[in-house]
Formats: sequence, structure tokens, C-alpha cells
Amino acid sequence: MTPREPRARLTRRRLLHLTGLGAGAALAGPWRRGGRAAAAAQDGALTIDLAAVIEPAPLRPGAPTTLWRYRAAVTAGDPARLQAVDGPFPGPIVRLREGMTFTADFTNRLREDTTVHWHGLNVPHEMDGHPMDLVAPGAGRRYSYEVRNPAGMYWFHPHPHGRTGAQVYRGLSGLLIVDEAPGDPRLAALPADLAELPLVLQDRTLDDVNALVYTQSPMGFLGDDLFVNGRERYRATVAPRPYRLRLLNGSNHRIFKLGWRDGAPLTVIGTDGGLLDAPVEKPYVMLGPAERIELLADFRGAAPGTQRSLDTLSFRDDSMAMGFRWPQGGAGDVAAFVVAAAPESRRRVWLPVGYVRRSPAATGAVPPAPPAGGDSGPGDAVAGSRDARSFAQPAAAAPAVCRVPAPSRSAAADGAAASTPPTARRAAAGASDGVPADRTIVLRMQAGQFTLNGRTFEHEAVADDEIVMLGADEVWAFVNEGMGGGPGPGPGPGMGMSGPHLMHVHLVRFKVVERTTDGRHAAAYASVAEGLVDEGWKDTVLVMPGETVKIRATFGDFTGLYLVHCHMLEHEDQGMMRNFRVDPPA
Ligand code: C2O
Ligand code: CU
Ligand code: CU
Repeated sequence: MTPREPRARLTRRRLLHLTGLGAGAALAGPWRRGGRAAAAAQDGALTIDLAAVIEPAPLRPGAPTTLWRYRAAVTAGDPARLQAVDGPFPGPIVRLREGMTFTADFTNRLREDTTVHWHGLNVPHEMDGHPMDLVAPGAGRRYSYEVRNPAGMYWFHPHPHGRTGAQVYRGLSGLLIVDEAPGDPRLAALPADLAELPLVLQDRTLDDVNALVYTQSPMGFLGDDLFVNGRERYRATVAPRPYRLRLLNGSNHRIFKLGWRDGAPLTVIGTDGGLLDAPVEKPYVMLGPAERIELLADFRGAAPGTQRSLDTLSFRDDSMAMGFRWPQGGAGDVAAFVVAAAPESRRRVWLPVGYVRRSPAATGAVPPAPPAGGDSGPGDAVAGSRDARSFAQPAAAAPAVCRVPAPSRSAAADGAAASTPPTARRAAAGASDGVPADRTIVLRMQAGQFTLNGRTFEHEAVADDEIVMLGADEVWAFVNEGMGGGPGPGPGPGMGMSGPHLMHVHLVRFKVVERTTDGRHAAAYASVAEGLVDEGWKDTVLVMPGETVKIRATFGDFTGLYLVHCHMLEHEDQGMMRNFRVDPPA
């Protein structure tokens, strides 16, 4: 592995950080599985108040940055199910378990329409946050559904058509973690004293007065600097124990190619849909917008002060998102993990679920950055932090209750499904397709817009070939035509309308069953290929230029209108999104 080329500006900011905001290092505590029986007699439901608010947060020394973010409070159920990341954004972590009923009483305190979409969750269409179900400023609505997903890390974010990118960029996103049932064999195969650390990677550009800069270019927006859990130059103090690093790429457009700086392989233990049957090793891992990856990082036996760094490595994407200071595929620092002096250090502890702590005062838990108070800045104040009465971020130091989720009835069934060997194969360039596709979706630049089969988003319209039968088991082929070539009115050679896309399907989880590449973007493909993780359940998949990715999903649980789109949010907002409708069998 070649040495990093640190971006000079970051180095300068690092100095500022050491004297300013840099003290927020967190020591992630042990995640104790099992333990005493849950005190909560009734843990079958969780109800929260959730609000999208505008408020300032200190991201850098100097003026606070006006963020739009989610605030939440538990109104019924175990308060420990609401947690915070160890930084100012994104907004809360909601801990769920399969089979429970989750309800969010949502209030929109922005000055524009929004919705809340529960990315990766299998929910009825009216709960999916579809852009047709807008919540107006000042209005609210109840989202309520049974958690039907198996354990995994999912997330939630706005989905109003044309504004998703801007709203997510300003800070609106949160994590939904569905915890494994105790006794999950996949968990049992991992080290026993596993701690966890959720890490949300988001690139952002701040101007001279620390305001977020965003332009809605249809080609995509790339931030100048990386924020992990809202913190620049992210450093976590870790205990000398094994960690489950749970990463979400919450960026609008940026793709990461993650690798350890010391050149060691990454141990991947999970993907979008939860833990793999068995860990896999990769030299590096690709993580596109909305994708999740879980890594095992073992700090056992490491001397105090030992530091391990996670980087994003350079790669080629052949896209035309140019003119950004930190280009797509540019190398950079992601996170540093520094081993603490003593495993039981109480200096700063980030509380994972199930971690028992009798005295809240003793934890020294890192709370989310407090609102700086006062108005949130020119033109932005709607409700702001003064209305935090019912929407205060739950204190991380709230009395935690150790919970033993009841064994899930479907755990066995799910285990069986998960043990299906992945059938993905990576075909050599030019190889003919193997798995027949039920549907083909061509990703193409046409008349200046990215399209799906030549179409852009049409609100509630569904074409004949976008109707799926309830219960159908289908293979979909995403064909990224890339530059030039392919049938239909694609761009001619030299137009440069290529680049990767991140295809996301609502409602279902899927397996990648085949990848083929036409060889026209061989160098770009070669720079990412070894980092594609097709072993597990996915809901979002990277499709490189010139590549065809086939996925297989069962459209099992609900009828109604759902979305398929590119999760590069500027592509989505300019229309690279379509409805599909699940109909009951005739
Ligand atoms: Cu996270 Cu329709 O998206
Ligand atoms: Cu989604
Ligand atoms: Cu795209």
C-alpha cells in the first residue's frame, strides 16, 4: 500500500481541531450480550417523537454551523432504545428488534416539505416516506409499522422529490439498528466481548463562516472534507478488545474505497442486510452512498497508544463529476482508532445497546453536541432548539437497561435464508450473461438527464413494465451503459456521460447474483473490483460504468407503490428514479 497523500488543508485543520473541537474522542464500551433479564416488562413496542429541526451545532472553531437534523424522544417503550452517535450528526440511533412495533410521531419543523423514509425496511407503502406523502412545514404524521427486517443496520432520511439531496446534506439522517437475537449463530461465531461503533461517513464543504455549501449539480456534489459522525479528523479511543465497526456511507455522491493504512486486509462481517454467514477478507472495500458495511477490528493485545487508521484509497470512476477539490476516487483519511491505556477506562464511554451502567453520572458518556442556543441563524430559524422540550436528544447517559430480546420466532427461518450460499460470480470482461433476468433497467444519460430505461421520475405514474406481482421472485438486471455504446439513444463516444451509480430498491433486500462488465471501462473496474462485497444481503448496489449487475429479490410482503432509484442523491433528485408497483396476484 502506498503512503497516503494527506490533503494539506486537512493537516492545517487538524491543528485547529486539537485546540478546539478535537476533544470529543470516544471510548466505545463493551457490548455485553445476554446478561440479566430485561427489566422492561413490555418491550414489544417503541414509540418516539421525531422532529426535523433547524439548529446550530459547533462543527469547527468559530461560528456554529446551521444543521437540519432529527431530534427524538421516547414517548413509550424503553428509553435506552434511543441513542446518539459520538458526534453532532447524524441524528439519533434507534435500536429495534425484529417483531416489535415501531412508531414515530413525526413533526416537520423545517420550512419546506419533507418525508421520512426508512431505508432498507420492509414496510407498507404508506409508511415508506414516498415523495407523494409529503409532510408540510408545521405539520406532522405518524409512521408506524412492525419491524419485519432481520438484524442489521438500516437508516432513515428524507425523500421529498428534488430535495432529498439538499435535506440529507444539511444533516437529516439517522440510524436504525435491528439487533440480533441472543443466540444468533452468526453472532456466536464472532469474538465474545465484541464492542460496537457505528460510523457514518459524510463529505461536506463548509465556507469561511462555517456554513454548509451545497450546489445541486445533476452530475453530483462532492464535499471538500470528510465528517465521521459529524466530526472531522475522526479519532476514537478504543479499548483493547474486538470491535464491530458498523459503517454507513451517508454521503450524497462520494464513494469510498476503504482500506487499513497498514495494508492489512479488512475483515468484513456484514453488509446492508446484516451479518454475513461467515467473515470474508478483502484487500479493500467499496462503500457507495447508502451502502453499509460491518468490519471486525480486533484491538486485543494492542499496546496502549497503538493507532490504526482507516483510509479511502484512490480509484477511477470514469465520471464527469469534476471541479471538486476532493475528486471522486481521491484518497483521504477516514478514521483513526487509538487504543486506550486500560480496558476499563471510564474516561469517555460511548454506550452501546445493552450496556449496563447503574450510575449515569459515572459514565462520562459523550452526549451529542448541545445546541448552541439562540436562533439558528439568518433565515433558518423555524423552531430551533428552544422547542427542544419534547425533542431533546436522549441523553446517552440515561439509565440504560440491559435487554434480552425474546428469541425471535423467525430467527431459524432467517438463519436458513442467510445460509444460502451467495451465487454471485464475477464474469470476465466480455463474458456472456448466465442468469436470465426478469427485468432489465438500463442506466443511461439521455437528453442531459440520467434515466432508467429512458424515463425519469413521474410522481405516481407507473409504466406497464414496472408492475411486480406480490410474492414474485425476480432477477433484475441493472445495465450501466456507461460511455458510448449500447442500444438506444445513448451518448456518443467522447460525451463522457458515464460513471458509477448506486442502485437502490425499496421494500426488498436482495442478493447480487451476477456481475458482468463489457470491458469499456476496464481500468476503472479493475480499480474497484476486489472491494465489491456481494456475499451478503443488500438493498443498494454499486454498478460501475459498463457493468451489468443482476440482483435477485422476493417481493413478498406488501402491495403498493415503491421506488427504485440511484442513491447518488443528485442523480435521484434530477429524476433517476422510478416507481414500481406491487400488485396482488390477479
Ligand atoms: Cu435511502 Cu429511496 O432511499
Ligand atoms: Cu430506501
Ligand atoms: Cu446515479
